Amino acid sequence: MKTKMRILSLLLIAFMVIGLGGCGSTDKSIENTATQNSTITNEQSAKADKAEVLTTGEAAQTEDQTVEPESGIEGSDILVVYFSRTGEQYTVGVIDKGNTSIVAEMISEETGADLFEVIPEEDHYPMTYSELTDVAKQEQNDNARPAYAKDVPDLLQYSTIFIGAPVWWGDWPMIMYTFFENNAEGLSGKTLIPFSTHEGSGLSGFDKKLSSACPYAAVIDGLAIRGSDCQNDQDSVRKKVSEWVTGLGY
Ligand SMILES: Cc1cc2nc3c(=O)[nH]c(=O)nc-3n(C[C@H](O)[C@H](O)[C@H](O)COP(=O)(O)O)c2cc1C
Repeated sequence: MKTKMRILSLLLIAFMVIGLGGCGSTDKSIENTATQNSTITNEQSAKADKAEVLTTGEAAQTEDQTVEPESGIEGSDILVVYFSRTGEQYTVGVIDKGNTSIVAEMISEETGADLFEVIPEEDHYPMTYSELTDVAKQEQNDNARPAYAKDVPDLLQYSTIFIGAPVWWGDWPMIMYTFFENNAEGLSGKTLIPFSTHEGSGLSGFDKKLSSACPYAAVIDGLAIRGSDCQNDQDSVRKKVSEWVTGLGY
């Protein structure tokens, strides 16, 4: 009898051990499933995040695409912004097409870029050279920000912006600083390429000054063209412009 009881007890213990082992394995599989589920959940949430990013990206793209250029300029991702004067100019007499505007148009023709001229809102600039130099000097002394006439096209569509002006008293004309400051956001992240026309001062630090005014843009090497050549030797100016933009990869 005692032996029978012992055998029964041993059998009971054996069942219990097997039974507990089974529970452990079930727990583990639940654990695994839970881990797997959480992985799937994480993956799904990552996918959802990605989808959200894509959706946002697509939305942003759609927004970009639907932006209408304000001035009707469209098509190219290169823009030429310039300021230029007609009237009496140094050494060339009275001109009816500004020196810088001639270079700006050549850059546009060579690269397919759109053009935007910075025109003063109130044209208070005299047509005689010596009077113009006085007004320009006064603006520089006052650190003035003369207003320009019309709104700039939406800069979003442009990745490269050539920016040119005559050298006035060794610097950008002050109206150009108005342009840089008014469009600080639109110029950020862009490649900006300065160019000048002058009668001896060259680029006059246009690049460094542009860099300071637009610290979030990449400013690359500029081109300086003698103003009188724009009136008297356009073939050589055209050649310089063409070689320059080709060298830059445009
Ligand atoms: C107000 C004024 C200031 C000038 N200052 C300089 C100067 O500091 N250095 C220089 O080389 N040329 C100077 N010039 C000459 C012009 O930069 C040059 O004639 C230029 O080509 C004019 O370009 P635009 O016809 O596009 O206005 C000055 C001209 C003006 C009207």
